[in-house]
Amino acid sequence: MRKMLVTGGAGFIGSNFVRHMRGAHPSDRVIVLDSLTYAGNLENLKGLEKDSGCLFIKGDICDQVLLDGIFDKEAVDTVVNFAAESHVDRSILGPRAFVETNVLGTLTLLECARKRWLSNAAKAKGNVFLHVSTDEVYGSLGPAGYFTEETPYQPNSPYAASKASSDHLVRAYFHTYGLPVVTTNCSNNYGPYQFPEKLIPLMIINALTGKPLPVYGDGLNVRDWLYVEDHCRAIDVVLEKGRLGETYNIGGRCEKRNIEIVNLVCATVDELLNADKTLAALYPLGKSRKELITFVKDRPGHDRRYAIDCGKIETELGWRALTAFDDGIRKTIKWYLSNEGWWKRVISGEYTKYYEVQYGNRANR
Ligand code: NAD
Ligand code: TYD
Repeated sequence: MRKMLVTGGAGFIGSNFVRHMRGAHPSDRVIVLDSLTYAGNLENLKGLEKDSGCLFIKGDICDQVLLDGIFDKEAVDTVVNFAAESHVDRSILGPRAFVETNVLGTLTLLECARKRWLSNAAKAKGNVFLHVSTDEVYGSLGPAGYFTEETPYQPNSPYAASKASSDHLVRAYFHTYGLPVVTTNCSNNYGPYQFPEKLIPLMIINALTGKPLPVYGDGLNVRDWLYVEDHCRAIDVVLEKGRLGETYNIGGRCEKRNIEIVNLVCATVDELLNADKTLAALYPLGKSRKELITFVKDRPGHDRRYAIDCGKIETELGWRALTAFDDGIRKTIKWYLSNEGWWKRVISGEYTKYYEVQYGNRANR
């Protein structure tokens, strides 16, 4: 039975991971630590309130005293670090919070694990500190080639730079102190509970509500997409079988241009609404969603292409992505259709202000 601290467990991937773990490993104890920033939402963990194997603590990963208390009281033996500021556009508007949480927060967690786990060799046995990172640390690819675990880091956005810094600290704690760490670098995720500032949920919600669909630049930037459940299974496998001190790339072998995704979202939303009169009446438009597509000013420093070579985790640990993109998109759109209350609450308040700053003066290209 593991005692697992999951930081950022009220966010998009973290909450999907907590659900996955409660189902797959019910005898483990999961302690969720999340400061509930704009992106954290207790509604994402709905249904787990009465689960005695799952405890939620509101708090910041930069708070050393709080972390020390949790490690002592709960005898934490496993850390999965999702907590982060995670959105590139926000990192361009204000990078400081990214350095505070992603770099200093990770350092604080590493220090806490080092003090607890390495003071006594017996305590360290079986412990794992899994750091969840991104493919964006590798920079941007041309039309060919893939990111492997050996690709040099070349982060281009403040978000990517802060994640790269945290990855380097995690690596250094393994080499310097022998802390039992492992890092995963994953491609773009999508699925239920994703905050609507990110491409896919933003396009779904704007398509439903008849707002413009803002495509940056020429819409030809490429990302490699992975359904969130596949990512959660990958982390589960790395925790169980991953070699300490290693990094594992995780990806969907699913490269798509942004404009292809927006077109698919429009076509799927049109199809689902056309097939259901009640839904169609809830989201009336009177034209195809494709007519909402608007090309807008590009993101500064916009990386052109990401593509992951995930051969290492496939051959070494036997994991592979299982959800085909068309199925995953359909499931995701259906989830947003069934959870209107969730996204309506999420896009009120702070999000309205962010949206105005990000898109208000973004003249058409
Ligand atoms: P998210 O923004 O949805 O969730 C982040 C969570 O961390 C939120 O619940 C937030 O409240 C919490 N948090 C932020 N600062 C905190 C702090 N100081 N202390 C405690 N909690 C804090 O992000 P996500 O998309 O779920 O991403 C989770 C992790 O996965 C991040 O580390 C991100 O870099 C990484 N990642 C994301 C993707 C993706 O496509 N979303 C891909 C690869 C890697
Ligand atoms: P995003 O979801 O922000 O993820 P990341 O930048 O971490 O890859 O964006 C995915 C792609 O979609 C990226 O190339 C930027 C683009 N994009 C748009 O064209 N319009 C938008 O409104 C957003 C949020 C993103």
